[in-house]
Amino acid sequence: MDPSETALRTIDPRLDLFEEIPRLKRELHAVILAHYYQHGEVQDLADFVGDSLALAQQAQKTTADVIVFCGVHFMAETAKILNPERLVLLPDLAAGCSLADRCPPDQFRAFLDKHPGHFVVTYVNSSAAVKAMSDVICTSSNAVQIVERIPKDTPIVFAPDQHLGRFVMQKTGRQMVLWPGSCQVHEIFSEKKLVQLKVRYPEAEVVAHPECEERVLAHADFIGSTKAMLDRVVKSAKKQFIVVTEPGILHQMGKAAPGKELIPAPPDSGCACNECPHMKLNTVEKLYLCMRDQKPALTLPEDVRRRALAPLTRMLEWS
Ligand code: 13P
Ligand code: SF4
Repeated sequence: MDPSETALRTIDPRLDLFEEIPRLKRELHAVILAHYYQHGEVQDLADFVGDSLALAQQAQKTTADVIVFCGVHFMAETAKILNPERLVLLPDLAAGCSLADRCPPDQFRAFLDKHPGHFVVTYVNSSAAVKAMSDVICTSSNAVQIVERIPKDTPIVFAPDQHLGRFVMQKTGRQMVLWPGSCQVHEIFSEKKLVQLKVRYPEAEVVAHPECEERVLAHADFIGSTKAMLDRVVKSAKKQFIVVTEPGILHQMGKAAPGKELIPAPPDSGCACNECPHMKLNTVEKLYLCMRDQKPALTLPEDVRRRALAPLTRMLEWS
């Protein structure tokens, strides 16, 4: 960004952003969608907080003129695929995803060429260009259901998360060819520290996201998407939970299940690396700025968007 643009992006320190953001929302006729891994104060400013599937469904049915997406790039891109005529804003365009980044479209094309005749199931954590090469999209909350819809004799490629893919294979009994991708946040939970936590809290229920490694998931009492984990914590009769996913979810869990003890599972190091560095790029200040300046906005080549829309629409119909 050049210096003049940086100057334009400064914020008047007298402004109360918690008043300004709702004001801008009314002015723009905008809707603010946020994922559970966003900072708590960003979640609190949103009209809707959800998992990837619920956010895509909200984006599909919104009547707002502007969609402000507090999540990562592929999520805002999904909203744009569904809403080519609407302005879709992402507070920080650099908010990527290791799963999407580690599945470049040219390498994915070459991978698919090695597996002709396969039905391609692609996790929503992928770029629009990769979605455009797929037969159906899935999220962590509907992956099992989506794979079960595919005729038994049809070979399947599943990408890009190998851990979710393996979990789906176990649940459905289907063999699938897996793209070897993983999430940088979910692959570093420490099995050893998780076992130590279970010894320390023997009554606690372990709830985990299917992007975790198999040896970590082996210790879970419940495995599901962020929304499914949240619902489980609310409904379970247990009072303590060890939560094995990005800790942003604790904000909604704490609100929805007051009085329950939530213990975040530790990573394989002393730092807070289980915070998703991409999700956490969005701040209240950047949320305000993107609404004030109506940028950065998502753009997509129309041919890619159109090809990505077909498998995405199929997912929404199958869900
Ligand atoms: P959910 O769809 O379960 O919210 O997961 C999104 C994600 O990015 C997990 O890392
Ligand atoms: Fe991507 Fe992992 Fe961050 Fe989810 S937590 S957005 S999968 S890097």
